Amino acid sequence: MSTLVVVGAQWGDEGKGKVVDAIAADADLVVRYAGGNNAGHTLVVDGRKVVTHLVPSGCLYPHTRCVLAAGMVIDPDVLAAEIAELRAIARLEHDELRVSLHAHVIFPYHRELDGLREDRAAGGAAAIGTTRRGVGPAYEAKAARRGIQIRDLFDEVRLRARIEHNLDAIGPELARDGRAAAFMVDDLLARASGWAGWLKPMVCDASQLCHDAIRRGQRVLFEGAQGAMLDLDHGTYPYVTSSSTTAGGVCTGVGIGPTLVDAVWGISKAYTTRVGAGPFPTRLDDAIGQRLRELGGEFGATTGRARDCGWLDLPALRMAARLSGMTGICITKLDVLAALGMVRVCVAYEDGHDPGRDGLAAARPILQDVAGFDDPEVPGQLARARRWAELPGCARAYLDLIAEAIEVPVALVSVGPGRDETILMCRPFDPPVHAP
Ligand code: GDP
Ligand code: IMO
Ligand code: MG
Repeated sequence: MSTLVVVGAQWGDEGKGKVVDAIAADADLVVRYAGGNNAGHTLVVDGRKVVTHLVPSGCLYPHTRCVLAAGMVIDPDVLAAEIAELRAIARLEHDELRVSLHAHVIFPYHRELDGLREDRAAGGAAAIGTTRRGVGPAYEAKAARRGIQIRDLFDEVRLRARIEHNLDAIGPELARDGRAAAFMVDDLLARASGWAGWLKPMVCDASQLCHDAIRRGQRVLFEGAQGAMLDLDHGTYPYVTSSSTTAGGVCTGVGIGPTLVDAVWGISKAYTTRVGAGPFPTRLDDAIGQRLRELGGEFGATTGRARDCGWLDLPALRMAARLSGMTGICITKLDVLAALGMVRVCVAYEDGHDPGRDGLAAARPILQDVAGFDDPEVPGQLARARRWAELPGCARAYLDLIAEAIEVPVALVSVGPGRDETILMCRPFDPPVHAP
């Protein structure tokens, strides 16, 4: 087995960065295939915290090459800043980091539009609560076939025509807020020329690169961004992001066939969080939700916004497992749940409500208590555990309950933010072995 996909199974922020960093030691290539710097993936190594937004979270290993594939939208200013920051702690020269010629560019006017639209919609049903990074408007331009790909940065004549086309299309909307004059073609061209200069040695055909690596038997890790419930097609539309966040996004986002995907690990917290607007059936608008936020440090890695918190939602997780064809489930932040001292879990919705057929907006959770977490020994035992057998009995029972409910075996358990605070049930590029 040489390819593994890691995807978020909830509403993002499940701990993808932590999991990817923990297993990337075994990978030759780590590839981001969707989203942009709306993502914030946190790694903690030797007590040092690093947040990646565009660069894959395997970047701290000297032998692991990183790729930004075609399905991404890339803000070059953000990428430049991130590379500069990471270079202080990791090797990130042109060989270590490659960028697809087919990826789309987030221009400053995309960021502006994202912010203006959120401001206009504030408080109303149309407010999505986006990260305001220009991700939605860049994907919108891509679907409208006026997007600007990385390759266009190297052809000034073509680029000028594309920028003019874009400013024509969005000019009236910008003008409504008096912002049209802020974006001049020549200024944008000058910025793009700067980007082209430093991007030139990094660009590649990422589909070919990944395909060749797989054919050579190299181990390739595909790192998802966001989560299943934020998927453009299958999530809580319209309260979603603008890309395919499920495992299927790997094929279109990288440019490889589904026959080359060997395994898919979904990542879920031991509870649920969401940031931004939209349905969240198990949300706790009470002191327990607040306590979870405090214990889990549930504030966005990208925007710093407070995340809403609630119990684990098994029907939603089961749907996420189906959407991505998960072969393993990784449960993170079990230590946070243990510190709470009580655990409840949503096992179904009232009235036979089905998340796929009926959506999540009107779903009312049926909650069940999970016993044993009130034992004061549990948090300490759990924090020290590095093998399945060392986990407290209540934690093992909870993990078994999850695996049974979603019919996916546990592949990894995370008991702290650090790289080593991890229980691996199998080698990442082997099939999972712990079935309930
Ligand atoms: P991502 O977007 O999926 O990579 O997740 P984020 O980095 O946005 O948010 C996850 C947060 O939880 C980060 O602060 C991580 O350092 C932290 N984290 C990940 N796994 C664990 C865990 O098992 N226990 C604790 N306490 N924190 C964790
Ligand atoms: P990672 O990869 C959590 C949410 C936003 C908003 C919606 C649309 O760190 O898990 P967008 O800016 O994408 O147009 O916003 O999606 N969102 C995320 N929530 N984690 C993320 O990324 C997210 N990326 C987008 O809050 O509700
Ligand atoms: Mg995040």
